[in-house]
Amino acid sequence: MTRKLFVTTALPYANANFHIGHIMEYTQADIWVRFQRMQKGTEVHFVCADDAHGAPIMIAAEKAGITPQQFVANIAGGRKQYLDGFHISFDNWHSTDGAENHELSKDIYLALRKNELIEVKTIEQFFDPEKSMFLPDRFIKGECPKCHSKDQYGDSCEVCGAVYTPTELINPFSVLTGATPILKTSEHYFFKLSDPRCVAFLEEWTQTPGRLQGEVLNKIKEWFTKDEEGNGGLGDWDISRDAPYFGIEIPDAPGKYFYVWLDAPIGYLASLKNYFGKTGRDYDAFMADPSVEQVHFIGKDITYFHTLFWPAMLHFSGRKTPNHVFVHGFLTVNGGEKMSKSRGTGLDPLKYLKLGLDAEHLRYYIAAKLNAKVEDLDFNPEDFVARINSDLVGKYINIASRAAGFLAKRFGGQLSADVGVEGQVLLDALRAHGAAIAELYEEREFGKALREIMGLADKVNEYVDANKPWELAKKEGADQVLQDVCSTCIEAFRVLTVYLKPVLPALAAKVEVFLNVAPLAFADAQKPLGAHTIGTYAHLMQRVDPKLLDALFEPPPAPKVIPGGEDLAPEIKIDDFSKVDLRIAKIVKAELVEGSDKLLRLTLDAGEGRLRNVFSGIRSAYPEPAALEGKLTVLVANLAPRKMKFGLSEGMVMAASHADEKANPGIFILEPHAGAQPGMRVR
Ligand code: MSP
Ligand code: ZN
Repeated sequence: MTRKLFVTTALPYANANFHIGHIMEYTQADIWVRFQRMQKGTEVHFVCADDAHGAPIMIAAEKAGITPQQFVANIAGGRKQYLDGFHISFDNWHSTDGAENHELSKDIYLALRKNELIEVKTIEQFFDPEKSMFLPDRFIKGECPKCHSKDQYGDSCEVCGAVYTPTELINPFSVLTGATPILKTSEHYFFKLSDPRCVAFLEEWTQTPGRLQGEVLNKIKEWFTKDEEGNGGLGDWDISRDAPYFGIEIPDAPGKYFYVWLDAPIGYLASLKNYFGKTGRDYDAFMADPSVEQVHFIGKDITYFHTLFWPAMLHFSGRKTPNHVFVHGFLTVNGGEKMSKSRGTGLDPLKYLKLGLDAEHLRYYIAAKLNAKVEDLDFNPEDFVARINSDLVGKYINIASRAAGFLAKRFGGQLSADVGVEGQVLLDALRAHGAAIAELYEEREFGKALREIMGLADKVNEYVDANKPWELAKKEGADQVLQDVCSTCIEAFRVLTVYLKPVLPALAAKVEVFLNVAPLAFADAQKPLGAHTIGTYAHLMQRVDPKLLDALFEPPPAPKVIPGGEDLAPEIKIDDFSKVDLRIAKIVKAELVEGSDKLLRLTLDAGEGRLRNVFSGIRSAYPEPAALEGKLTVLVANLAPRKMKFGLSEGMVMAASHADEKANPGIFILEPHAGAQPGMRVR
């Protein structure tokens, strides 16, 4: 029977580049997916997307002076180098701000509403009066009501671990403006998870055997249980946020947006739909097919969303629910504290690649440490070097390098059709483990699978040591034995390569070239190559250089400090600088902007045969703007235009100021020496 799989990993927030935790999750899912793709007849669709919405991204974009769409696009543009670099084989990468997601989210919401599972309630919430927006818990800080530590977030205290509501904070303030938040009422939309239909459905769904891991099920049972006072249990879920918000507008509710966690998992469907659209497949038919298995890989911190909200949303909107939610633990580095999502990482995946460390070493190491439980795993450099150099290279790669030379030099790369009894016994033993190894991959017991495979590699090396091809090579009349022994080694190496291919796809591709065989499927382990001519051996894999690992963990050089001034920005290359197109521009007009005490509106001539409109925050320094008219200055001419409340700003003029502008006021526009003409490039 053909299996049809729809596989996802969690959608990363589009507010930062990937960290090593993301790479770990993708590696786990990618190994599973590649294993499935190696099964003949299995159809696999593996997708992901950027999680684009929410207040933090909106605020970060505002700080950067760009639209949230641009902000998210910038982050999205950086994804490929990581995914390609670590051989993560998604079939599609989309965004939760894509059209498919807007449409699907609205459809699902309307279906839930039709099912009477949406309720409007008035709630009281902190509001920033200066910014005119309701504040998410993470944007309110104050003194912990329990231990009185200062500067704690609105939802929990990082010092004593207390969990509370923002209204319990002592002396709360808005992280955005520093203002004291006020309580304000607002209508919010709720998904009625406490509805008896939901509770009954979720009890059944979560407990369906084989769907969730045991530990996950135990956690869920806690969430279901009410205490003696009737607290706890499944509460209704607040799914709306008030404008301003970067998200999807709720139908028939002006100014209300879906909370990012409502539309985020729908992004799984949206990415699949987008992919099917691009490849001419029928999304609706696929999702209506009961034989399709829907599988989500996620980290433990987002279990609640995926095992309660998500299946309930799908079920009560008349859709198929996930067959599996596979939860993994967190990766830590050097036994270090759990990498928080927002804080440091310890192992920068891009730096890893740029240093020339082998991506497949990391894949192998992560796989070796993974099991099917929700356990954290630690990246330990010594352990890493040992596993790669002693196991992967020392045991497996070595088999090929020991045999290939003799075959090439003495037998023109020709393998024996029949390798003799002893070799056959060894190969049969290797093949006999195929089913067990497949089972371990299927069960996500990758560490066990690799132990099993390395155990087989040990057997092959024992065989080599017992038969000593280097001695056979010198012995008169032992040609046939030498060819048989080396053929056995190469065939053993091929079988092991099949077993390792889900973890080491690029290496397997090199081996396929070397062995002169078609891409290996899992079943190919069982089919002997027989009399076959292999290609020439090229070096397959280097050992890890411990020096590079040291470099990986070396902290970046501290920025140079200018006495009394601002820290120097990190060093750049000339190419970085030449990306900035600076032009001489003439200030044709300079005017005050009504409604702004910071901005001037400048009309600039940069020699382009048209004039540009630029808003500049220099009003405090130039109370008589007309004095600027007729002067030359320097314009950042290729800056993306920015839409502002007062109109479009098409560039930026350059000005000098102190780092601490408040204490040390003064803004000074740059002016070129005499002779410069509008349009000249500054370089
Ligand atoms: N945007 C949400 C997920 C929405 S899914 C519909 C989110 N994003 S995240 O970027 O914070 O995390 C993405 C995934 O990375 C999650 O599965 C999370 O558990 C995982 N990890 C984050 N830190 C991790 C480690 N240190 N180790 C392993 N996985 C980790 O949550
Ligand atoms: Zn506290």
